[in-house]
Amino acid sequence: MYVCLCHNVTDNDIRHLVRTEGVSSMRELRNQLGVATQCGKCAQCARQVLNEALADMSADACCPSMMAAA
Ligand code: FES
Repeated sequence: MYVCLCHNVTDNDIRHLVRTEGVSSMRELRNQLGVATQCGKCAQCARQVLNEALADMSADACCPSMMAAA
């Protein structure tokens, strides 16, 4: 889905940046993709997608160590 219409940014674009570039803050997201730099209507949704992507990364990182400890 589109998160930022002003800059044609989708939720997949944000998730990809979190996975591949280690983006972890709205500041980095703004610098990389331009979200929330024009009209600003996307800020809340972009933050939500960012937080979800970071939570997914944490869950992915958590599972291998749990498996090794078992
Ligand atoms: S919708 Fe993202 S800056 Fe306008």
